[in-house]
Amino acid sequence: MSSSLLIFPDLVQNPIDPRLYGSFIEHLGRAVYSGIYEPDHPTADPRGFRGDVIDLVRELNVPVVRYPGGNFVSAYDWEDGVGPRAQRPRRLDYAWGVTETNHFGTNEFMDWCQAAGTEPMMAFNLGTRGIDAARQLVEYCNAPTGTRFGDLRKAHGYAEPHRVRTWCLGNEMDGPWQTGRKTADEYGRLANETANTLRQFDPKLELIACGSSGPGMPLFPDWERIVLEHCYGQVDAVSIHLYVRQDGHKSLADYLACPREMENQIRDVLAACDFVRAKQRQKKTMMLSFDEWNVWDMALGHARCERWAEAPPQLEQIYTFADALVVGGMLLTLLRQSGRVRYACLAQLVNVIAPIMTARGGGLWRQTIFHPFAQASRHGRGALLSTRLSGITHTDTPTHGPSPDVEAVATRDGDRIAVFVLHRGQTDAAPLTLRLEGASAWRVVEHQVLAAPGPGVCNGPDSAAVAPRPGPPVGIADGHTLELTLPPLSWHLVLLAPESHP
Ligand code: AHR
Repeated sequence: MSSSLLIFPDLVQNPIDPRLYGSFIEHLGRAVYSGIYEPDHPTADPRGFRGDVIDLVRELNVPVVRYPGGNFVSAYDWEDGVGPRAQRPRRLDYAWGVTETNHFGTNEFMDWCQAAGTEPMMAFNLGTRGIDAARQLVEYCNAPTGTRFGDLRKAHGYAEPHRVRTWCLGNEMDGPWQTGRKTADEYGRLANETANTLRQFDPKLELIACGSSGPGMPLFPDWERIVLEHCYGQVDAVSIHLYVRQDGHKSLADYLACPREMENQIRDVLAACDFVRAKQRQKKTMMLSFDEWNVWDMALGHARCERWAEAPPQLEQIYTFADALVVGGMLLTLLRQSGRVRYACLAQLVNVIAPIMTARGGGLWRQTIFHPFAQASRHGRGALLSTRLSGITHTDTPTHGPSPDVEAVATRDGDRIAVFVLHRGQTDAAPLTLRLEGASAWRVVEHQVLAAPGPGVCNGPDSAAVAPRPGPPVGIADGHTLELTLPPLSWHLVLLAPESHP
């Protein structure tokens, strides 16, 4: 049977919130120090922000960045990171076993977001602290001057409020590794009371409650149910986290099928959300914030470092081409689920399980996973289109069951259509016919292919072996039909525009 993808350019499934392409900067390893901030780097601006990193963040087109953690936030005193640098305390960070200098904090992050063309998504410490510290941080960021915290911000050089709209109510509060871990009832009540207090300051804040740390947690998805039974009426979204890894999979095909786990996890968390909605006769639809997702091979043990070191390398995973295909598969899942996933953050952005790697005092480079993310973030905007994929063969995998060899998603932004295609087959090229339904005729603007000599190929400081390249020219018969040949193990971006437009 031949494979085909029918695309309905005028049949929108749902709008895509641009914040689906967010990322994450935690005070962890070299994400901040010698990642985004390195005052004596040759490209640093007067505030110490690395210009070369900002250029790549802009290339990734990241609309929102979560900060400052992560596990780090659950014992973080935000007051340590504001005011004159010389007076900021050096603190022990229990989460990662290092010393935090606090040379970079909330105001620096706001400035960096502006320089990088992105928006902050801030997290509160609901581990060791609670409502009051959260309230004071929100006021510090958003209150007008003439008030205690607005004036404190002004005294620190920021008269204008930062106007942060999105806030995470803690981080992974179910995790035994989390400082100040809570039971679902304890956390649900705290999230509700914190949200309730913050809404008295500003009802328009977007608030995200912590879901489970992952689908493997013993209480998943009861955690979501219990937490939401406490706070459904007060929050806009619940968080989901998922890190996948090759380790433990039985074969490459098994590993490549693992985005299925993300799809199942979204289905299960939505079931919990919708159950609470029905039970409480709520009108609001709960959205999801997939605010940590990526490939992370924890078994590599790269979190270890000398105890209480200052910004040592941690979690500096080097990604393979196979990892890039998995990230591509996860992006397709997020796009398919974008009707309910409002925010998502690739974890993380620089040096720590990241698409961008830097050398202290030196250059930087793009990991393999940079590319599918950058393409989706640049072109997968606007709205998700209805499509129908048929004639696809499936491979049986021990962990994830039957896995489609080919997956595709189409989006439309104005008069541009972007089609993303993943081919997981390992031996043969796969023909795929794309057919655009409707009266309008279309032309191909661009076809890019991400492929590599082998699944284990990595990039490095001196090698960009895995990078998108122009695909073979594809003709489009009668403005509606085009034939792609998908090489084994490949990721594709096809951009289309109306035939009549230049
Ligand atoms: O992203 C690394 C860590 O993974 C984060 O700090 C934590 O939230 C998660 O467990």
